[in-house]
Amino acid sequence: MKILIMNGPNLNRLGRREPSVYGTATMDDCLDDLRRRFADVELAYFQSNSEGALIDRLQAAADDGTEGIVLNAGAYTHTSVALHDAIRSIDVPVVEVHLSNIYAREDFRHRSYLSPVCRGTICGFGMRSYALAVEALTEEAPPARRQQ
Ligand code: DQA
Repeated sequence: MKILIMNGPNLNRLGRREPSVYGTATMDDCLDDLRRRFADVELAYFQSNSEGALIDRLQAAADDGTEGIVLNAGAYTHTSVALHDAIRSIDVPVVEVHLSNIYAREDFRHRSYLSPVCRGTICGFGMRSYALAVEALTEEAPPARRQQ
């Protein structure tokens, strides 16, 4: 199965960014862990600080054989109608993830423009949020594609 992990703005600074909120592990640590845990899954990674680049990558994923997307859109989660529309426009299931529990934080983080068009949302489990999302996507895949 081919899964794309996507991170939005400021998530390239994981490990150094507000460690009390986001922890000290880097995204490379997270990807190493995911590749170990899901050895049979082909995992691609894309990060951008730009909304347009994230939209371009979502659109490309619709045509490159990607079967599931794990998306942490960072702050664009709370602002972007354009990302909402992009997710809506593709047939690939998208799982929204957040490291922090956005509902236990500031009010402006309580609204997600993406949740209504995502297959599901996982938040609050730190880096484990990504693993839980990959697990959800692989378990939902048609039986022929499931790991044995
Ligand atoms: C985040 C939560 C967002 O509110 C914030 O803007 C981020 C990270 C998270 O993973 O907890 O950049 O998506």
